[in-house]
Amino acid sequence: MRIAVLSRQSSLYSTSRLVEAGRDRGHDVRVVDYLRCYMDITSRKPAIIYQGEKLSFDAIIPRIGATYTFYGAAVVRQFEIMNVYTPATADAISRARDKLRSLQVLAQRGIGMPVTSFAHSTKDIDGLIDVVGGAPLVVKLLEGTQGVGVVLAETHKAAESVIAAFRQLDANILVQEFVEEAKGADIRVLVVGGKVVAAMERTAGIGEFRANLHRGAKASPRTLDAQETEIALAATKAMGLEVAGVDMLESAHGPVVIEVNASPGLEGIETSSGVDVAKSVIELIERKVAP
Ligand SMILES: Nc1ncnc2c1ncn2[C@@H]1O[C@H](COP(=O)(O)OP(=O)(O)OP(=O)(O)O)[C@@H](O)[C@H]1O
Ligand SMILES: [Mg+2]
Repeated sequence: MRIAVLSRQSSLYSTSRLVEAGRDRGHDVRVVDYLRCYMDITSRKPAIIYQGEKLSFDAIIPRIGATYTFYGAAVVRQFEIMNVYTPATADAISRARDKLRSLQVLAQRGIGMPVTSFAHSTKDIDGLIDVVGGAPLVVKLLEGTQGVGVVLAETHKAAESVIAAFRQLDANILVQEFVEEAKGADIRVLVVGGKVVAAMERTAGIGEFRANLHRGAKASPRTLDAQETEIALAATKAMGLEVAGVDMLESAHGPVVIEVNASPGLEGIETSSGVDVAKSVIELIERKVAP
């Protein structure tokens, strides 16, 4: 098969692992920088052109960076129009990138999540705080990644000023119940083709509640119980993804989903679990693309 990994840089861990796994299984795998792709969307024969060459693949693996969701999703959509298989459709990528939209979709499917509120006007701050049961609470920038823009407000006063400050900057924020019981740890689950293939627990450093590896959290392998497995699979399905990284917290009322990632990084999970996740992505593509 001819497979393209849509990625800005072939040296990135996840990108190079996917290329390697595909080649190991006898496929012709190339890295294509989606920002350098341009599209012919007018003719009856839709095409994607890359460095002067018309691209032709059986499958793509999108690895779209947070900064380039709009253009990346457009490129993925063009491949979909050309009947090229993708484990993450353009719609699913855009849906997953938008934290508010994701939580609305998950809530609609009855998937547990921290109690969350959202508003535009600063006049409604007290209401926002009330919805999540008061302080301590977490305020999240909708556009944030890697823990930047996730703030813990321990008192009502602190919550008010943080929310007011973000709103002053015209930033879109979520206000969320602080899941204190999680004790600075979260669970990342890798789902591929309707199965959990690997899971890890990330534990934040001392004095930190955010379990982001970029913020120095430590990863260790984790086995999931039946309920956690079921929730991870349901969240992935609700988001319309075939490959996803589902982040959950262990709350007093069971596992809650905080986010579903459409381009989950492979380094932390492969290193901590010892599972060849890249290989399972390639095997999924083999099953999905009819010979
Ligand atoms: N409601 C919450 N209660 C307790 N801890 C939380 C809560 N929400 C997030 N956290 C912690 O903060 C970390 C970062 O939060 P989150 O994943 O929502 O944002 P992000 O990592 O900045 O976004 P992205 O994952 O898109 O890069 C989580 O991994 C988790 O450890
Ligand atoms: Mg996160």
